[in-house]
Amino acid sequence: MKQHRIAAIPGDGIGREVVAEGVRVMEAASRKFGFLCALEDLPWGSQHYLDRGRMMPDDALTRLAAFDAIYLGAVGHPRVPDHTTLNGLLLPIRRTFEQYANVRPTVLFPGVATPLAETKRAIDIVLVRENTEGEYAQVGGQVHGGTETEVAVQTAVFTRRGTERIIRFAFELARTQKRRAVTSITKSNAQGHSMTFWDRVFREVAAEFPEIETSSILVDAAAMELIRRPWSFDVIVASNLFGDILSEITATVTGGLGLAPSANLDPTRRHPSMFEPVHGSAPDIAGRGIANPGRGGRGRRARDRRALNFCGPRPDRAMAGCYRANGRFIRALHP
Ligand code: IPM
Ligand code: MG
Repeated sequence: MKQHRIAAIPGDGIGREVVAEGVRVMEAASRKFGFLCALEDLPWGSQHYLDRGRMMPDDALTRLAAFDAIYLGAVGHPRVPDHTTLNGLLLPIRRTFEQYANVRPTVLFPGVATPLAETKRAIDIVLVRENTEGEYAQVGGQVHGGTETEVAVQTAVFTRRGTERIIRFAFELARTQKRRAVTSITKSNAQGHSMTFWDRVFREVAAEFPEIETSSILVDAAAMELIRRPWSFDVIVASNLFGDILSEITATVTGGLGLAPSANLDPTRRHPSMFEPVHGSAPDIAGRGIANPGRGGRGRRARDRRALNFCGPRPDRAMAGCYRANGRFIRALHP
């Protein structure tokens, strides 16, 4: 029987609760589909930082390299600055393991409440976000700190290799999943160097996939259209920062951040990929057992009600719908 070595990093806040539940789901799936999961729980994160001054041990990345996959809860703690938690754990893992494709599928499940007035049309978007460079490249510096002349510079980095591989990944995903269209999101009118370069690479790669429709939209217009008519989108490809921002809109119109999954893939499989929820550590509700993909209310009865709301007025039919939607969802996460 195939065995997968999985590093679980529950991290901070509700990360611990959601990973515990996720592990139960994984175990149920492994029994049903006949595979084994050798799980190692790694107690890294903000508590590790408060105790030892580091989010994870010195040899963490070497240790993680030996696993098949990483399952991350969340990082973020009221007593530790965000840039410390993120640059000490999440972002180095994404970069070191060349998890360049951040895949965020969004499906509006039957019965799930959405803030949109019109919900008759199916929403089924896969947002592909560049995950190793762009606006998140840690390039820049500060001088004259704390004085009137202080200066901060943060440089976005777009390489030919990084840009081409993420755009090609999005097209290959569209082709494999028989999807109709790929939309590229940029801001070329204002960012005339990096984003016009991205547009040019997009056109070049698109030529290899003549059966797939393409479009390019500016990020501000995309933010509007994702609310106005999200059903018109299929596969989206965007830079690191734009993908981050837009994935909160795609999540929100399909039921909220609690439901949104995120796969950080190294499509070459040379390094382990990492799977995580899009939501954060939510310290305000951590440890109370109320972290839940649905919204509203507290306590057991409210939880049950939310679970039922999630299933809609006809649980049997809705569950079948969820199951079908979920199949698409899972295929989208691991194309
Ligand atoms: C996400 C998060 C992270 C990101 C933060 C926590 C650094 O917002 O995964 O969307 O921006 O990548
Ligand atoms: Mg985000």
